[in-house]
Amino acid sequence: MSKPAASFDTGARFAGQSYQDILDQDSREAPANLRAQSEPYLGSDPIPVANYTSQEQFDREVEKMWMRTWQMACREEEIANVGDYITYEIADRSLVVVRSEEDQIQAFFNTCLHRGRKLVTQPGRKNQFRCPFHGFTWNLDGSFKEHPFPWDFQHLTDQDLQLPEARVGTWGGFVFVNFSQTGPDLMEVLGPLPEHFANLQLENKYIAFHVAKVVKANWKAVSEAFMESHHTIDTHPQIMPYLADVNSQYDVFSDYITRQISAGAVASPHLAEQPSEQTIADEFLGQMDMPAGQVQVPEGMTARVFVAQMMRDMLASGDGNDYDKFSDAEMLDAILYNCFPNLSVWGGIANNLVYRWRPNGADVHSAIMEVYSLAFVPKNGPRPKPAAIHWLSEDENWADAPQMVGLGSVLDQDMGNLPYVQEGLRASGNQMVQFGNYQEMRLRQHHIMMDRYLNEEI
Ligand code: FES
Ligand SMILES: [Fe+2]
Repeated sequence: MSKPAASFDTGARFAGQSYQDILDQDSREAPANLRAQSEPYLGSDPIPVANYTSQEQFDREVEKMWMRTWQMACREEEIANVGDYITYEIADRSLVVVRSEEDQIQAFFNTCLHRGRKLVTQPGRKNQFRCPFHGFTWNLDGSFKEHPFPWDFQHLTDQDLQLPEARVGTWGGFVFVNFSQTGPDLMEVLGPLPEHFANLQLENKYIAFHVAKVVKANWKAVSEAFMESHHTIDTHPQIMPYLADVNSQYDVFSDYITRQISAGAVASPHLAEQPSEQTIADEFLGQMDMPAGQVQVPEGMTARVFVAQMMRDMLASGDGNDYDKFSDAEMLDAILYNCFPNLSVWGGIANNLVYRWRPNGADVHSAIMEVYSLAFVPKNGPRPKPAAIHWLSEDENWADAPQMVGLGSVLDQDMGNLPYVQEGLRASGNQMVQFGNYQEMRLRQHHIMMDRYLNEEI
C-alpha cells in the first residue's frame, strides 16, 4: 500500500502490542535502560546509493571518518601480558596495539620509520619491535632503541624516530583506538553505554568464540543488515514463532549510540495464526538444539516467563554465577546497541554477542564481518583463554563454524541477501535508497554521522 507523501505521521508505530507492553507482563521489572526510549524523527530524505558504491567516497571515508573515530581494536584479555600485541587493520591502515606496561596499552602506526615496511604482521608477544627488513628496533613504549648502522644515520635524533602514536581508551574489557589525537574522548562517544551495561559486567567476560568472514558488500550495507528487525518476515521466517519483529523498539540515544530491541519467546504479530505458548517455547529452545516437547510450559504461564527461568537455571548450572536478579528481557531479548561507526554489542545476559564490521582493505564493495560471543568467567575461575579468531573461507558458511549453533544459519540467511544488495545498488536506476521513518531510524543516523564526518563537522 502506498500513500501520498504530502502529509504523513512521523510518529507512526506498529499498531499492536509494543515492546514496552511486553515488558509490563514479565516476571521481573526490566532495568531502567530497557525502559528508556528515545525516538527522534530524523527526516525522510532518500539516501544516495554512492554512500555504498563510490570508491571516491570510500577513500574520503578513510581520511575523514576512519582516521578520526574510536574503533574497537581488541579485547583487553587478548593482550593480557606485557609485550602482548595485536595489529588493528582498518581499510588500508594499520596500528600495533601493545600492552607496553602492566597497566598501560599503547597503539602505534604500524610502519617502520626507516623505509616503511610494516613493523609487525601477526599478533604475538615481544619485548621489542625489530623491523625484519634492516633491523631498526623500537621499545614497547614506541621509543627508538637501536639499529645496526648508527654511523650512517647520525642526522636522525631519537625524537625523529619516535613511533607515531594513536589514542587508546578502554571500556567493558574492550580496547578502543583512534588514529587521531584530536576529537571527542572515548567516554564522550560512548555516552550512555557504560550506564546501560552496568549490570552486565562486560569486563568480567571472556571471548568464548570469534568468527570472521569476508562479505561481498559495502561495510555499511553489511552493518545495516543488523540494525533492524523487519527483514525477519522475508529473510528469517523460521524465527517468527519466537521473535517479536515488527513491534521491535528502536532508539537513537546520542550521535553515536543507537539500539534496537526485539522480544524473544514472543511470536511475531505478523503470523496469521498465533502459535501456542508450548510451540513458542519449543521453537525458541529448538534454535539452541533442544528437541521439541522436552519441557512443558505449565498451564497459565507464558512461554516467555517459562523459558527465561530455564535460561537462568541453565546458565547458573553452567558457570555457578547467580542469574536470579536478571529480568526476562535480559535473558531472552535481542538487544543490539551500536556505537558509530562499526561496533555492535548485544545487551542482555544470555546473548552477549559482539559484531564488528570493517571494510575489506580498500575495496568499497566488500567488508569483513566478525562475530564474538562473550561469556562470564566461571565463578570459581580460572579465567578461560580468549578464543582465537576463526576465519571462514569464501565458500564456508557461518553455520560451518562449529561454535555457532543456531545463530550461524540465521547469519547465512543474511548473507544470502548481501552480495545481491551490493549488486543491486551498483545497478540502481535512480541512484537512491529509501528508509522507513521508524524501523530504519538507526540506519539513517548512521548516514547522518557519515555525512557529518565527511563534511568535517566533527
Ligand atoms: S624498512 Fe624497517 S628497518 Fe628498513
Ligand atoms: Fe538478519
